[in-house]
Amino acid sequence: MGLYTQLVNGGISKIKPYQAGKPIEEVQRELKLDDVIKLASNENPFGMSAKAQKAALACLASANLYPDANGFYLKQKLHDKFGYDVDEITLGAGSNELINLLFQAYVNKDCNVVFPEYSFVVYPMETTVGGALGISVPLKNFVPDIEAMEKAVNENTRIVIFANPTNPIGTSVSYKALHDFIGKMPKSTLVVIDEAYNEFNRDDPEYVDTASWLLEFENLVISRTFSKAYGLAGLRVGYMLSNSEISSVLNRLRAPFNVNMVALAAATAALDDDEFIRMTVENNTSERLRYENFCRAEGIFMIPSSANFVTMDFKDKDGVEISKKLMQMGVIVRPLQAYGLKSCIRVSIGLREENDRFFASLKEILKTM
Ligand SMILES: Cc1ncc(COP(=O)(O)O)c(C=O)c1O
Repeated sequence: MGLYTQLVNGGISKIKPYQAGKPIEEVQRELKLDDVIKLASNENPFGMSAKAQKAALACLASANLYPDANGFYLKQKLHDKFGYDVDEITLGAGSNELINLLFQAYVNKDCNVVFPEYSFVVYPMETTVGGALGISVPLKNFVPDIEAMEKAVNENTRIVIFANPTNPIGTSVSYKALHDFIGKMPKSTLVVIDEAYNEFNRDDPEYVDTASWLLEFENLVISRTFSKAYGLAGLRVGYMLSNSEISSVLNRLRAPFNVNMVALAAATAALDDDEFIRMTVENNTSERLRYENFCRAEGIFMIPSSANFVTMDFKDKDGVEISKKLMQMGVIVRPLQAYGLKSCIRVSIGLREENDRFFASLKEILKTM
């Protein structure tokens, strides 16, 4: 280990860089392919709302000025649309930044963090950075095991965090179980529900806006993003909901202009386009059904998903090899070996024709394996 790695704070030297999905241009360049589709990072296949695009373009001309450091209009829109208290909102350059800030604020070597097995890689990473102990709780039938998580929590647990729906597995926890669970947590343990895929779960008959629980549970923190259903991943904007004391801690810690002007304008306008979200979710639900049917017909094990991606387990076959072969055919998906799921791949649900191309390519590949 070099001197400048030894000198870093906390557990930074122990983490590996985040492995992002390969950009389309990189695959086109490397493999000399013209027509590449990316079904790897759970982005919106429709792009963004035309209203968001128009607002983003309109504000470019004033990008010589700093953005509004407090994101007044976006917070106001979130208040007007969903009733959230402006003091309970913290804006971030993607929800990832907000998760980083929360860990930076609350996690240290004297505490532990509890999360489900196969969680979004950022949770164990940030736990390591903070020098804390990460407690990974095995899933039960691919779903976070709420009872086991409750047992794993002790007086040193500063954060319990999990995504609902989960990533990279795609399953979700029942809202009733979640509500009961939060009620049993000590006040000194923050319960963080990462709702990056929340919009895709709204057809759950039990669906509740968990923000309505904020008054009841002062240790509840909810993380949301404009990167997935809203289609603004490249602009980087997300928000966190929490009691106003936690949000003021996060606001103290964040860089003053963390969310750029274009992102603020696009996200504010995106909230005016319910039709775009409806179309996005409708396509996702009907195409997800086609994935289920495809997997059933081909004898592939697919984990039931509540999100905008599906995870397939090829059992005795190697997910990395399948992903490489798909990439050579111009289809980028996500192998899950980094999560210890060597036989699995995660596929983001695309447009109908993109999904057809995935089905046809995978069928070809499996014939040869
Ligand atoms: C569960 C989960 N949380 C958070 C994020 C971060 O998203 P963003 O920083 O783009 O808001 C992702 C992105 O893939 C995710 O899957």
